[in-house]
Order: sequence, then structure tokens, then C-alpha cells
Amino acid sequence: MPRKTEGERRRSDPYYKAAKKQGYRSRSAYKIKQMAKNNKILQGVDVVLELCSAPGGWTQVLRELDNTLRIVAIDLDAMQSVQGVHFIQGSILDDDVIKKAEDLTGGAFDLVLSDCSPKVSGQWELDVVRQLELAERTFKIGQRVLGPNGKALAKVFQGKGFQDFIKNIKEMFNTVKLIKPPASRKSSAEIYLLATGPRKEQAIEENKDI
Ligand SMILES: C[S@@+](CC[C@H](N)C(=O)[O-])C[C@H]1O[C@@H](n2cnc3c(N)ncnc32)[C@H](O)[C@@H]1O
Repeated sequence: MPRKTEGERRRSDPYYKAAKKQGYRSRSAYKIKQMAKNNKILQGVDVVLELCSAPGGWTQVLRELDNTLRIVAIDLDAMQSVQGVHFIQGSILDDDVIKKAEDLTGGAFDLVLSDCSPKVSGQWELDVVRQLELAERTFKIGQRVLGPNGKALAKVFQGKGFQDFIKNIKEMFNTVKLIKPPASRKSSAEIYLLATGPRKEQAIEENKDI
């Protein structure tokens, strides 16, 4: 049987169809919805830093689930506004961009989220390296801006370097959990890593440059 084209695959995908119908900007919206429900991501959270937020499906869900959340969102691409969300256009790898986000809340967040994917190069191994760099940056930012019970959740591609990456995050946070939400395609190498309780001593040493 011939393989489905990307367009055919999308059109037969229930989450893609549901997102269109319910007005979500991405099918990915269902991943955060499921993780919020099953993993209680938003419990005890007032202030969120959302990295790599465009086109804004996750942001829409955050706002829908809690109308009182303070949300700062960042992406390289422009993003259509979501009510009450402060959006910064820029790279999460740029220290000035992160400082701008910190200035908006006095530097304190309860949750750092990141659904980052690099612009695809077509070379899988290179894409994995770049994606791990964005995920690592997420946890380093988390170590810096989160309080003692703070949480960081990031998408990670399971490719070369994945096991070492997990080991590294386990040294940076008290607890680490891997989550594959039902809306994440079984065939996709992505998985989400939820880390809780940053270890601050190390953060000071490692994040001197951000
Ligand atoms: C899969 S999309 C995020 C989808 C989003 N969670 C949603 O539900 O709409 C990945 C995003 O990562 C962003 N991105 C990639 N590298 C980035 C960087 N260095 N800084 C900021 N955003 C970046 C891309 O621009 C893209 O919008």
C-alpha cells in the first residue's frame, strides 16, 4: 500500500480534525490538555513561562484551563495574541530575551513549559542535536527562574544523546518523569520530560552566563 502523504495523514488524524473544529491553533493543544489533566501540571501554579509557544495552541489551553494564570510566552515566530498573555518574539537561546521575561515577573515563575522544535534541516541527527539544545536550555532556564517546588516540562526527541540528557537533568532536579501523552503520535520520537524541584546550588554555577 502506498504511504500516506503529509496532507492525507493530517486529514485522517482525529486530533488535527478536533483542533480545527474546536478552534485550537495546533493539534499539540491536546498534548498539554492531557498532561494538565493526567499529570496535574498546573496544580499550585500561578505564573508560567512558555517557551516556543507559536502558533499558540498550548497558550490557548493554558488560558482556557485557568483564567487567572500569569503567562509570559516566547517564540522565534510571531504569534497571534491570546488574552492576557505577554508575548515576546525572540530566541530562547538569547539571554536578553530571557531577561525581558524575568523583568515582567520579577524573575519568578512556578512552571516553565517548552514544546520546542528546531527548524527542520532534513538531517535527523542534526535535528536531534538542535532539539536537545533547546530542551537543555529550557531546564537551565527553569533552574534559574523556578522556586523550590517549581516544575519544568519540555519536549525531547529520543535520539542519540537522549540517555545522557536524562542523566544530566536528574542531577539538576529532584524528580524527573517521562510522559508520552495520548495525542503524541506513537510513531513520533518525541517524549515530554517533567522535572520538579530545581537544585539551586548547581544552577548558580551553571547559569552564570544567562
Ligand atoms: C511545535 S512548535 C510549538 C507549538 C505550540 N506548542 C503550539 O501548541 O502552538 C515549535 C516552535 O518552536 C519554535 N522555536 C524553535 N527554535 C526556537 C528558539 N530558538 N527560540 C524560540 N522559539 C523557537 C518554533 O518557532 C516553533 O514555533
